[in-house]
Amino acid sequence: MAFVLGDIRELVTNAPTRPDLLGVVSDAAVVVQGGNVEWVGPEEDLPARFRGLRKVDAGGRAVLPGFVDAHTHCVFAGDRADEFARRLRGESYEEILAAGGGIMSTVAATRGATGMELFNAATARLDRMLQGGTTTVEIKSGYGLDIATERRTLEVIRALDERHPVDTVPTFLGAHVVPPEFRDDRDGYVELIEVGMLPVCAPLARYCDVFCDDGAFTVDEARRVLEAGRRYGLKPRLHVEQLGHSGGAALAAEVGAVSADHLDHVTEEEAIRLRDAGTIAVLLPAVALSMRTPQPPGRMLWDLGVPVAIATDCNPGTSYTESMSLVVALAALEMGLTPEEAIWSATRGGALALELPDRGWVVPGAPADLVVLDAPSSVHIPYRPGTNLVGAVLKRGAFVVDRLNLQR
Ligand code: NIG
Ligand code: FE
Repeated sequence: MAFVLGDIRELVTNAPTRPDLLGVVSDAAVVVQGGNVEWVGPEEDLPARFRGLRKVDAGGRAVLPGFVDAHTHCVFAGDRADEFARRLRGESYEEILAAGGGIMSTVAATRGATGMELFNAATARLDRMLQGGTTTVEIKSGYGLDIATERRTLEVIRALDERHPVDTVPTFLGAHVVPPEFRDDRDGYVELIEVGMLPVCAPLARYCDVFCDDGAFTVDEARRVLEAGRRYGLKPRLHVEQLGHSGGAALAAEVGAVSADHLDHVTEEEAIRLRDAGTIAVLLPAVALSMRTPQPPGRMLWDLGVPVAIATDCNPGTSYTESMSLVVALAALEMGLTPEEAIWSATRGGALALELPDRGWVVPGAPADLVVLDAPSSVHIPYRPGTNLVGAVLKRGAFVVDRLNLQR
């Protein structure tokens, strides 16, 4: 069913043909047909052939592309509220992890959960994402760390993609940490990933990720896992330079990773290498909030010409939030991006980080994944933090959230 979404005060298109970063069209209309964007422009220029279509009135609000959340771990069981409280009382994340808590407590809970339990818990999270304007999300495995649970997690990610309006992009993160049963045999665990996990997990995944950091995997181990992933058709992406400076960013550039994520401790020289390798920086400002650490150097990366995406990192340990609006607010208020850069990074940047070039913008031919903000411009997102201003969400042209009752 075709219709015109009109009376849009500010339309963020992210079209690179326009002079400003966000490709803003004022007093705009969008024609939606067959789930895709058919036409975009100032409403007064709406071609005659569309004038008879049903009109949905955005009421002078802003419209932007749906958020593309390019880094999450949102399939897991249990929570870690107790550890969160302990961290606020002074214990460190690394201490809790080294003592067998942290990621390992979520691994224990996830191993003990059925596929249905994992599916139901993740569905609730995807529901919150959708209410917050996210229309595409990347999800990593990595709380199984054994063949059966890694596989089960990826099956849940696929089931979510089939049954939930939010599209999911699956990433295999068998190399999240070394599980306790391999504490004295790290090599044995890397080998299990290579010969045991990848053959059964790779068919359900698009990317292979490694947590390459202090207390997780070394650069050499990470390289080995990524090479094995490639043999199974999975492109590399990497968690790097989060807890310390361990050389992971240089590895990301060396292997031509699609993205290098976290990057709290990245240097300028490494940033230049990432840029030259065509690697996208996925920054996670809500992790710095929850971990009470300094923000990653978003300004430096942007100024050096590294394409930047921002994402929630939704996980029970370092960032339990589904809110891309919060991430945009933090990127602008705390990480040094302008409001426009933050909005771009949460939409077009996320799409590029997931190699989905038809997402994250509003141009003819793109899927009509749109957010109607209950505000006249997108700057209201960082300007009014902590409030969900998302009034309506269209996924492939269908209203999947309509708090404003726009469809009437
Ligand atoms: O992205 N850095 C590694 N993994 C997650 C944290 C996982 C957890 O604490 O459960 C992250 O921050
Ligand atoms: Fe992560």
